[in-house]
Amino acid sequence: MAFHDLKQFMAELEQRGELVRIKEEVSTDLEITEITDRVSKSGSGSGSGCVSAKPGPCGPGPALLFELVAGHTVPVLTNAFGSMRRVAWALGLKDEQEFGRLFGSLMDIKMPAGWLDRLRLVPKFKRFLSIAPKIVKNPPCQQVVWRQEEVALSRIPILLCWPGDGGRFITLPAVFTRHPVTGRRNVGMYRMHVYDDCTTGMHWHTHKGGAEHYRQAERLNQRLEVAVAIGPGPAVTYAATAPVPPDIDEIQFAAFLQNAPVEMARCLTIDQEIPANSQFVLEGYVEPKERRIEGPFGDHTGYYSPADSYPVFHLTCITHQKDPVYPATIVGKPPMEDCYLAKATERIFLPLIQAQLPEVVEFNLPMEGVFHNLAFVSINKTYPGQAKKVMSALWGMGQMMFTKIIIVFESDVDVHNMADVLWRVGNDIDPRRDVIFFEGPVDALDHAASNPHLGSKMGIDATRKWPEEGYLRTWPEVIRMDPAVVEKVDRLWPKLGIGSS
Ligand SMILES: Cc1cc2nc3c(=O)[nH]c(=O)nc-3n(C[C@H](O)[C@H](O)[C@H](O)COP(=O)(O)O)c2cc1C
Repeated sequence: MAFHDLKQFMAELEQRGELVRIKEEVSTDLEITEITDRVSKSGSGSGSGCVSAKPGPCGPGPALLFELVAGHTVPVLTNAFGSMRRVAWALGLKDEQEFGRLFGSLMDIKMPAGWLDRLRLVPKFKRFLSIAPKIVKNPPCQQVVWRQEEVALSRIPILLCWPGDGGRFITLPAVFTRHPVTGRRNVGMYRMHVYDDCTTGMHWHTHKGGAEHYRQAERLNQRLEVAVAIGPGPAVTYAATAPVPPDIDEIQFAAFLQNAPVEMARCLTIDQEIPANSQFVLEGYVEPKERRIEGPFGDHTGYYSPADSYPVFHLTCITHQKDPVYPATIVGKPPMEDCYLAKATERIFLPLIQAQLPEVVEFNLPMEGVFHNLAFVSINKTYPGQAKKVMSALWGMGQMMFTKIIIVFESDVDVHNMADVLWRVGNDIDPRRDVIFFEGPVDALDHAASNPHLGSKMGIDATRKWPEEGYLRTWPEVIRMDPAVVEKVDRLWPKLGIGSS
């Protein structure tokens, strides 16, 4: 079942025992972070073997609804997407095993041989029939309207996340812009540093869709209208984080994911549409050439991202549902909620990578690599130099361009198993021959590169080497027991008195 509304999703989580209501009074300043951080880190991470296993229901604690927030009447929701299973439910899927099927079934379409085959195709394309948004009047998100002097971000329980942060940040916003010339929509999740009641920073990194729309607006010396949906339906929140190509509308992508149109409503003070069921909507604009210091902010790298110059968002209006919930996420040293959104992306987009690189068998962006630092890929190698081709192709693919280290393995390596990965990396490479360096764009949050946005990348070819690749010795076999002996010892084992194996 797809959830059109965040509260519907919360009700489902509560019914499944995955939402805890916190009735003790807590402060927006640091306290919600401390509680959420402990819950996020309970029982997950590679150390526990959880992340390194194939994506499963393992994960940290429940979603948290803070009902009594000091100085506010609006409750705060955190960690709603904080497990693979919850992200799957958010997208209307039965469980996390279904992520791969979203695109996977489309990649697997064969020429129909008869009418029965054609009929079988219908459900595969049904998702595409519902992607056009539906415009509705009197939307829930405009039940209450604050205009002019009523516009006050301080009326919303926006969090001060970490002690060294430059202020309060809106951490789970879906930011809507339109290309000033083509009118094409972009929705991206970009944190917003609250400066005062009616201005915030607009932290779209230079490589992102919102930043491109702003560049075009600046070129035309035009104001860019921006709408921000806080707590739209969960598929829209996910879509705002997903690396969809610029030509694809995230709202249509969200409809594809939830297998139902997204209901949209017109904004009141700007020419934009926003999801009708959002909890809060901020309407406003960014002016050309206006910049202000944004940050520092305790980021998902686990470090504070330093203060830097970013555009300024001016609010013209705030609207909200009658009894809204304010959803927020806490980012910091992994694992945290955003890791599960990223892991869902890894699973959803793998079939698309495989469509372009059919040799790719599996793919792991470990949580500790904070999306862009590390990628482990296994391939079916059929020609010399193929591992290097795969690295180069990945560095050329959308937001994979940010990946700092790519390690390519043979198909029999379990790239989700850190023990297997480290054993193979250590054994199967000759560094001078198998490591390549490359230069290119790096994520705006990469603090190690000497310059912002530009740095080096490393590819490690950990596949078995061929004579054509200069390896003239005989590559050794991995030690494996004779299967007949394994079977015999399996049968004998209970009698050996050693305990379970
Ligand atoms: C919780 C969270 C916060 C994020 N904050 C930012 C941010 O402040 N700036 C940014 O450029 N990307 C941020 N991202 C990543 C973008 O949302 C992501 O790259 C998305 O694909 C951008 O969409 P776009 O390609 O339409 O710009 C964040 C992601 C998550 C999950």
